[in-house]
Amino acid sequence: MTKTIRSMAVLAATVCLAGSMGFAQSAGEAVYKANCQSCHGSAGTPSPGIAKMMGVKAISDPDMKKLSEADMIASVKSGKGKMKAMSPKLTDEQIKDAVTYFRSLK
Ligand code: HEC
Repeated sequence: MTKTIRSMAVLAATVCLAGSMGFAQSAGEAVYKANCQSCHGSAGTPSPGIAKMMGVKAISDPDMKKLSEADMIASVKSGKGKMKAMSPKLTDEQIKDAVTYFRSLK
């Protein structure tokens, strides 16, 4: 009986840990999907139409690769070209998370 309870507690703790880790990893992903994906594409590559029409570059583009995380955060915050400023719609933390996720796409 005690053994069962103990193993259930271990299981519950494991599930909680996995759940919270999963959440931390996907915070930026959720922000990106809701606020960036429509222009930048789900995998960081815009659709050819949007790329041409708005001048969006893929994350794999050498010009994007040159940018530091701070450069990107600044552009996303205050907007650039046809990209509207994301601040104050998104918090600084959400912007940073979304940029981190965007940079993790290749
Ligand atoms: C309405 C479409 C649109 C949305 C939504 C959008 N972007 Fe953009 N983004 C653009 C366009 C267009 C550019 C190219 C701007 C230019 O260089 O003229 C761009 C450029 C960028 C750049 C490069 C900035 C630079 O300094 O060259 C980054 C990084 C970026 N976007 C990240 C994001 C993130 C992160 C989000 C979500 C929080 C987002 N974008 C949402 C259209 C969008």
